[in-house]
Formats: sequence, structure tokens, C-alpha cells
Amino acid sequence: MIAAAYAPSWSPHHDRLSARNFTRLADFVYEQAGIKLPDAKKTMVEGRLRRRLQATGADTLDAYCEHLFSGKNVGLEARLLINAVTTNKTDFFREPAHFDFLVRTALPALAAKHVRTVRAWSAACSTGPEPYTLAMVLDDYARQHGGPDFGILATDIDTDVLATARAGIYPADLLHPVPPALHRAYVSLPRNPRRGEVRIVPRLRSAIGFARLNLMDNAYPVGEPMHLIFCRNVLIYFDKPTQRSVVARLLDCLAPEGYLFLGHSESIQGMDLPLVPVGSTIFQRRLP
Ligand SMILES: C[S@@+](CC[C@H](N)C(=O)[O-])C[C@H]1O[C@@H](n2cnc3c(N)ncnc32)[C@H](O)[C@@H]1O
Repeated sequence: MIAAAYAPSWSPHHDRLSARNFTRLADFVYEQAGIKLPDAKKTMVEGRLRRRLQATGADTLDAYCEHLFSGKNVGLEARLLINAVTTNKTDFFREPAHFDFLVRTALPALAAKHVRTVRAWSAACSTGPEPYTLAMVLDDYARQHGGPDFGILATDIDTDVLATARAGIYPADLLHPVPPALHRAYVSLPRNPRRGEVRIVPRLRSAIGFARLNLMDNAYPVGEPMHLIFCRNVLIYFDKPTQRSVVARLLDCLAPEGYLFLGHSESIQGMDLPLVPVGSTIFQRRLP
């Protein structure tokens, strides 16, 4: 009786995944999305999955796993599980040297080759700051130099971040890294402003096509070859062989002499692919 009175009351935070179910989940996420979930991430995964309990009616994390793996639920719930375990940290003008390189080197080179429409792809776009930064820089360049025109494809595996990206509405603070002239040109108050929110202007939003694309797919159906591919801060979640096959498939989508931008801690060392380093984690596709 006394023991019961002093026993800690049950709380969702005491609910843990069994080791077996964590392994099943980690294998499943690796197979579906290429994302490694080492044991050190178990607490993080449990925290993220608790949000799925209410939605699925599961009482415990292990019951959620049974729900997920019971066959009939795998399709939709798998997408929601992937949404829950992705890491989406991003920023406007993240790694600004890449955008300086665009203005000083890549865009003048493309213009000199008479490229009339620059095709750019943000291949793990998260909530949108990366493709919107690209759009600001490309549009500003075109206005100052009379072209080239541009189109941007922005993709991610996570459908929640894609919804945020499409809306283009952000807390005003997030736009602080945007230089003042670009902020004035491309950021406005939303029609029904909630406190502290701003919105990317419609002209810029309409220059970007958003779509779900899993970098684990065998081929990337992105149409005509891209002049610029940004695939930044996502390879770090994959193991080495997966990183190489992703970069090889990206290369299939890159125009000859097109540019590939990776995140600051990512590299193509040992991949033996026809890419030449031309800047800090910037690579150019060699001519065939
Ligand atoms: C840390 S964010 C990087 C966002 C942006 N590229 C940047 O550098 O700011 C990583 C993004 O990769 C996405 N991602 C993870 N695995 C993926 C996969 N297999 N296919 C496509 N996107 C994936 C995540 O959903 C997340 O939005």
C-alpha cells in the first residue's frame, strides 16, 4: 500500500521502446529513407514518436510499432514515421559562401555560355529557406544583368516540411540573414498576418516547384539536366556507400559543367566520380 502510494505515477515519458522494436524501426527507416538511427538516437526517436501515439490511438510506443508493422498500416504511417524522424534544421543564406560563388562565378559562367534559363534543384529543401535563398539570388542577378531567367525544383522526403515550404510563411526572425535590399524586394506581410510572421512574395514562390522525392529512389525524374544542384546537409545522415550512390544519381541529373553544392561537412572523397572541386564543398561536373 505504502509502496503503491510512493510509486512514480505512469507518464508517457516513462514509456520506452523495447530494444527489439527500436531495431525494427531503425532497419525500416534505413531501408525507406537511408537515414541511420544508431542506438544513441533512441531517446530522440522515442520523443518524436510520442507525437504519433495520439494520432494512431496506440497506448505505448511498442503498441505503435505493432500498428506500424501490421501490414495494413505500413503505407501512410511509414511516411508519417519518416516525417517524424527527419532532422530539418535549415536557414536562409546558410553557408553564404555558396551564394557568393553563384553571383561571382557560376552565374557569369552560365551567362557567358548563353544559358537562357538556369535550372536549379534544391534536393533536400526542408522548410524552404534554401530554395527561397536561391530564388532571391537568381532573381536579383537577373534583374541586375538582364538575365538569365531561372526555374527551381525543390524536393524533400518529408511532406510536413514541404507544406511549410509551399506556404512560404516564416517567423520574421528567420529572415534576419537576408540582406536588406533582398528583404525589401522579396519579403512581405502575409494577407492575414499573425504576430511576427512574414511571407515570401508570390512572384518568387511561383518560380519554385515543390515535390516529394526520396533520394533513396533508383532514379530522380527531374526532367532536363540541372545547371545547379544543392544537396546540402543531408548526406551526413547516410552511410558512405549510400552517399556515393546518391551523388552518382545526382550527377546523372547535372548538366556538363553544372555545379553541385554539398554541406560544409560533406565530401566526395574516395567516390571516384567526374567532379572537380571549384570552391568550398562546390564541385563542377567534368565535360564528358
Ligand atoms: C538538415 S535538413 C537540410 C536542409 C537544407 N538542405 C539546408 O542545408 O539547410 C535535411 C533534410 O533532408 C531531408 N531528407 C532526409 N532523408 C532524405 C531522403 N532520403 N530523401 C530526400 N530528403 C531527405 C530531411 O527531410 C530534411 O528536410
